[in-house]
Amino acid sequence: MNADAMKQAAAEAALSYVEIGDVVGVGTGSTANFFIDGLARIKNKIDGTVASSEASAQRLRAHGIAVLDLNQVGELPLYVDGADEATRHLHLIKGGGGALTREKIVAQVSARFVCIADRSKLVARLGAFPLPLEVIPMAQSLVGRRLAALGALPQLRAGFTTDNGNLIVDARNFDIDNPVEMERRLNQIPGVVTVGLFALRGADVLLLGGADGVEELRG
Ligand code: A5P
Repeated sequence: MNADAMKQAAAEAALSYVEIGDVVGVGTGSTANFFIDGLARIKNKIDGTVASSEASAQRLRAHGIAVLDLNQVGELPLYVDGADEATRHLHLIKGGGGALTREKIVAQVSARFVCIADRSKLVARLGAFPLPLEVIPMAQSLVGRRLAALGALPQLRAGFTTDNGNLIVDARNFDIDNPVEMERRLNQIPGVVTVGLFALRGADVLLLGGADGVEELRG
C-alpha cells in the first residue's frame, strides 16, 4: 500500500464523522484533497463547507460543494484536515502547505477536529519536520533572530506568499520538548501571525491510514 492509498483510507474514514446538515470545516493538502473528493459523494447531506485555503475552496467548488464565509457561519461541528507530524497526544505540526493561519482559525471554531494522515506522520516527538511560522514581512529578521536564540535554524520559504499576503519561515532543528509551552512562547514574538504547532488546540481524533487499515486515536 503506498502513501497515497493510506492517506485516502484515512480521508474515507473521516467521512463517517459527517452528519446530516453539517457545515464542514475542510483543510488543505493532499490528504484533505482525498477528503474533499469523498465529500463530493455525500454533498447533498451537508449544508456547505468552510475552507482553510483558496486551493481547497477551488477544489470544493469544482465538485459543486458550497463554500461559505466563516463570518456568516460562526461555530462548526467538524473540521477535517491533515498534518505534517502528529503525536499520540494529538499535538500536531501543520503548515507544510502554508495554510496554517486559516487552518488554526477553523480548528478553533470547530467542536471536533478530526486529523487524517498516513501512518508515517506519527512521531514520538515533534520537530523533525521544519516548523512553519506565518510572519508579517517587516518582522522576518526579528522573528529569525528570536528563533535562532531558541536553538532553531530559521529559513525563509523562498518565493512563497500565504493567502493572507505574508511570509512563511520554516524553523529547522527545533527540539520541541513541550509543544504547548513552545506554542505559547512562539505566539509572543511580535510579527508572528501563526505558529504551525497545534498543541493548545490539538486534534480530537487522529485517523492514521496504514498497511493494515485505519487506526483511530482519541484525545
Ligand atoms: C497545509 O498547510 C498543511 O497543514 C497540511 O495539512 C499538511 O501539510 C499535510 O499535508 P499533506 O496531507 O499533503 O501531507
